Amino acid sequence: MSQLFSPFAIGPVTLANRIVVAPMCQYSADDGSMNDWHLQHLMSLAMSGAAMVVVEATAVERHGRITHGCVGLYSDSNELALGRVLAAARGVALPGTKFCIQIGHAGRKASSERPWEGGGPLKDNADPWPTVAASAIPFDEGWHMPRELTGQDKMRIGCAFVDAARRAARLGFDAIELHMAHGYLLHNVMSPVSNKRTDAFGGSRENRFAWPLSIAEAVRKAVPDTIAVGARITGQDWTDDGLQVEDAVALGAELKAAGLDFVCVSSGGIHPKIRISVKPGYQVPFAEAVKQGSGIATRAVGMIGTAKQAEEIIASGAADMVALARGMLDDPRWGWHAAEELGADIPFPPQYARVAKKVWPGAALARPR
Ligand SMILES: Cc1cc2nc3c(=O)[nH]c(=O)nc-3n(C[C@H](O)[C@H](O)[C@H](O)COP(=O)(O)O)c2cc1C
Repeated sequence: MSQLFSPFAIGPVTLANRIVVAPMCQYSADDGSMNDWHLQHLMSLAMSGAAMVVVEATAVERHGRITHGCVGLYSDSNELALGRVLAAARGVALPGTKFCIQIGHAGRKASSERPWEGGGPLKDNADPWPTVAASAIPFDEGWHMPRELTGQDKMRIGCAFVDAARRAARLGFDAIELHMAHGYLLHNVMSPVSNKRTDAFGGSRENRFAWPLSIAEAVRKAVPDTIAVGARITGQDWTDDGLQVEDAVALGAELKAAGLDFVCVSSGGIHPKIRISVKPGYQVPFAEAVKQGSGIATRAVGMIGTAKQAEEIIASGAADMVALARGMLDDPRWGWHAAEELGADIPFPPQYARVAKKVWPGAALARPR
């Protein structure tokens, strides 16, 4: 019996299997509002066979977007546009598919170009905006100088997280994921690489974690307890002076104590000069440490490509769920193919049933890999 296709509860929400579509920025929104691109993207992924689809990093305030094309949930127009896309995706999703939204703030990595425009800081003629960070240290040479977060910034951004979470709840999302990784604002505040403050929000781990944890608590309290709340955290910063896996374990425990239901353990992104050598499953050991050390439901992510690899991660107990990003873009029917390979049943759409291997021997020809 496949463990990958066994059900799993993240707090109040039961997933039909352990497969999750990882959040993926599309850099294609109009002032934070989704459009037809997101419609096709999420409708397609809603049929992937994953138990849960996580909507891309969604900015809680306009200045919290990474690029001009990033999705937001800071206005009524954003909410309306997202509602249209979510309803359409739900309309075609395999029965039982859950939807989660990742909410975040880009901090000092905001005001940048879309990856295909270069990915650098927005130039003066491209409508850049002021950025904020734990300390006034740019992401890299030539990047915008962020303003050090003031008490007022913290209050405003904290409220923006709560407002965005309330909008997500109103739209009917099953789960909300706080973005606490990849060098964006909450990670920037938690990491000693970027937080050099000497006040009550810098120095010790307790001080650095305090504000992000207060946001997690506030979001948890702001939405009904039928909604699962979790976070994407960093397994480590890949540098001796950065966050280590012990910090991730401590964060997992703190988030659990704050009432959160799950974490996804990623890594990297705090500074562009820190290079990581990646290989299949390279972040799984971080997820395993967090799961074992904190007891919170844990998702592994990062170069998980094959059904066999995903099955092993779950069957070995290293993580409770796996998330796939590029694998799902490459093959938006990844879950169907994994089910076929592992001998599991999923609620295949009857309209497409004729592509199943048992019905159509040509499947082997169409998918030789
Ligand atoms: C196109 C693309 C967009 C991404 N956008 C996000 C995002 O919005 N939020 C996030 O936390 N990670 C984002 N990521 C990272 C993925 O969620 C994932 O952690 C990473 O790609 C590793 O998983 P993979 O090897 O399965 O692709 C993105 C990755 C890709 C490829």
